[in-house]
Amino acid sequence: MSSAQVFEGLAGVLVARTELSDVRGDTGQLVVRGHSLEALVSVVPFEGVLALLLDGALPDPARLTLLERELGQARVAADALLRSRFEAIASKDAMTTLRSALSLLPSDATPCDALGLAAVASAAWIQKACGGQLPAPEPGLPHAHDLLRLLSRREVTPAAARLLDAYLVTVAEHGFNASTFAARVAASTGADLAAALVAGVATLSGPLHGGAPGPVLDMLDAVGAPERALAYVQGELLAGRRIMGMGHRVYRVRDPRAFVLERALLAYHNGEGGLARLTLARAVEAAAQRELSRKYPDRSLRANVEFYTALVLEALQIPRSAFTAIFACARVAGYAAHYAEQRASGRLIRPSALYVGA
Ligand code: COA
Repeated sequence: MSSAQVFEGLAGVLVARTELSDVRGDTGQLVVRGHSLEALVSVVPFEGVLALLLDGALPDPARLTLLERELGQARVAADALLRSRFEAIASKDAMTTLRSALSLLPSDATPCDALGLAAVASAAWIQKACGGQLPAPEPGLPHAHDLLRLLSRREVTPAAARLLDAYLVTVAEHGFNASTFAARVAASTGADLAAALVAGVATLSGPLHGGAPGPVLDMLDAVGAPERALAYVQGELLAGRRIMGMGHRVYRVRDPRAFVLERALLAYHNGEGGLARLTLARAVEAAAQRELSRKYPDRSLRANVEFYTALVLEALQIPRSAFTAIFACARVAGYAAHYAEQRASGRLIRPSALYVGA
């Protein structure tokens, strides 16, 4: 047997240099191109973060308008494409459908093309699942506002558009997570943007990465009332099950995205009602934190982004089965920026494995 060290799961292994974001696990900070997450959410719209990721700086008003227009045109083009192709690619699962939709992108597709297609494909999937008709995109609207319109077929209130925009900003980029890494591996081979996005979205579909928010709501439903939170969590841990929305590979404190989403949700609920669900969620979080720190005293397992993602997307009346696809609608921005960075500076990513076979 070789004495070579194997880094299972690549935890803590530095595999590239990036200027895009810094995930500070010990202090619970997320920095995107020098800007803390807190300085971006509810201050800069999704289009602004897209510019920050792609251009390296926050946009001036002209660049912001241009991006808004490009995204609007991309939604219209995606709508035209999917009107004829959607039936052929639609599956029972939103993420499988999104993956197939992204593979329709031409080899010279831009990040805006991909974001427009992700938004319209996700909305089309929801409308098909609910037996509704996809409305035509309104290219003059900000991306989050129109995405919510397409998803819900309702009149979108400014507060609801702000909440979705805050969510898209929060989850647009997050270091070398599993799906971003997958997208970079594809990019490192010289594959095109569509291929890298398909790799990213496929990797995001697993429950340990992007799939926790739906199960978080199932858990809240099962708990039912704050006073039952502790007994529920204890029962789950005794049965050897994981508490969804808790724990993170990098953060050793509460995920900073949980804080900003909780704040955005509070601001939304102050105007719209619905605080009972948040109260229940906080009770479950507190019980889970307490019991997990008892069970794993050396491991700090706190709420992650998906815990509050669940509440945000539920408040916006998005079906649970589409939660991960909506997450992807934002994260495609991060994948696209990593794609460009990898193509500009990266080498072929090709690690090795320790052979332990016969
Ligand atoms: N509930 C119960 N136990 C958990 C847990 C959770 N949410 N998260 C971690 N643990 C346990 C693990 O099972 C492991 O126990 P073991 O040593 O007895 O096998 C121990 O805590 C240490 O796990 P850790 O090394 O921190 O996990 P990881 O870095 O491999 O995994 C996650 C990180 C996110 C995959 C993990 O915390 C998890 O599965 N969370 C729930 C799913 C989720 O919310 N995913 C979204 C992430 S943004």
